[in-house]
Formats: sequence, C-alpha cells, structure tokens
Amino acid sequence: MQAHRFWDRIANKYYQQPVPSEADYQRKLTLMREHFNADSEVVEFGCGTGTTAVTQAPFVKRLRAVDISERMLAIAHQQAADAHVNNVEFTRGTLFDLNLADNSVDVVMGMSILHLLPNREETLVEVHRILKPGGQFISSTACVGEKMAWIRYLAPIGQKLGLLPVLKVFTMDALRQDLRTAGFYLDQDWVPDSSPMVLFSVATKTGSPPAG
Ligand SMILES: C[S@@+](CC[C@H](N)C(=O)[O-])C[C@H]1O[C@@H](n2cnc3c(N)ncnc32)[C@H](O)[C@@H]1O
Repeated sequence: MQAHRFWDRIANKYYQQPVPSEADYQRKLTLMREHFNADSEVVEFGCGTGTTAVTQAPFVKRLRAVDISERMLAIAHQQAADAHVNNVEFTRGTLFDLNLADNSVDVVMGMSILHLLPNREETLVEVHRILKPGGQFISSTACVGEKMAWIRYLAPIGQKLGLLPVLKVFTMDALRQDLRTAGFYLDQDWVPDSSPMVLFSVATKTGSPPAG
C-alpha cells in the first residue's frame, strides 16, 4: 500500500484528535520561534493538516510546506484560509519534490515525521543540503525503540493490512547519531513529560555536508 493512502484515510480523524499535551505543543512552538525572524525562509515536511505551519506563518517571511497526503493538505489549505494566512505554500509530495537550492533555507521543521520515513538518513542529508550554514533543523520524533522495540515485529503486519503507516523503530541516541552523521550539531533536545518516547530537538547545520 502506498503511504499516502493510509494518511488520506485517517486525515479527518487526525485533525480532530487533540495533541497529547497542549502545553507541550505550545512549548515546541515557542522554542521554534526563537529561530524565526521576519526574513526567515522556512520549510516544513510532513506538514499534515498544516496546524504548525499556519500558526508559525506570522513569525516568518515565507513557509513552504509539503505532505504526501492530498486529504491532509485539503485541511491545511482550509486552515490557512480561515486564519487569513497568505505566506504559506502547501505542495503535495516529499521534501525532495521541492527541489530547493543548496544553502537556501533558514529553518526546516519535521514534526512527527522522521520515524515514518523509509529513507530517514537520505532525508537528513537533504535537509542539511538545503539549509544555510548555521540554519536549524527542528524536529519532534517518536523514538519507539526506547520502550516498544517489539513493535518492529508487528509493524510490517499492520502495514500490510493497511492499519499502520510505515514505522521505523529506533532509539533517541540512534536519532541523535543520525543527526550528527548528517552534519548537524545538536543544540537542544527535550523529552516532553506527556510523550516519553518523543525527542524534540533543535539541530544546527555546521561544517561541510557529509561525503557521498
Ligand atoms: C503523524 S503525521 C504529522 C503531521 C504534522 N507534522 C503534525 O505534527 O501534526 C505524519 C504526516 O506525514 C506525512 N508523510 C508521510 N510520509 C511522508 C513523506 N515521505 N513526505 C512527506 N510527508 C509524509 C503524512 O501524510 C502525514 O500527514
């Protein structure tokens, strides 16, 4: 089953579901804003129903957001229209489909997405490529390898039945290492009380892109 079908099917339900903790979500938004200014060029991949993009849009110059699910994006467009936000461009696809230039983006956001990608390492290299030196990659990721590593045996069955999306199982330390390998310095990370398997991190692009 192609990944977008799962997300298309659950888009409405996902939109109606409250976040695990509104206070933790607000803290994430506040931590992101420390890296925004009126000139910021921001990209979000796996933007879902656009709540984060629409909320953060007033604090940046332009925000380009991508998602593979048409149904998620339909809700995102509606949210942007309702909020009279006009500096967000929603595009259907993956980060790679944006074809952005090297060193052209100030901040990239990836919220609840890295664990859902079949190509996490490759995506981190792409994030590094498009960020300006000193730019930030801000992410929030379920690291189910911390406490539920057994799910790696069930996930493929759930995926075949269309009950689960692609789910990659890794620990927080493994994710931190992936970020370093891709050429990032980890400025900050935080595990919210409400979601003990989620790592929120702010990583800065340093040095040269990884070889190869
Ligand atoms: C768990 S939701 C997170 C949505 C949003 N970022 C949030 O925090 O609410 C994951 C989203 O990623 C999208 N997605 C999954 N794989 C993707 C990919 N390779 N590229 C872009 N979006 C993807 C899904 O369609 C879905 O909207």
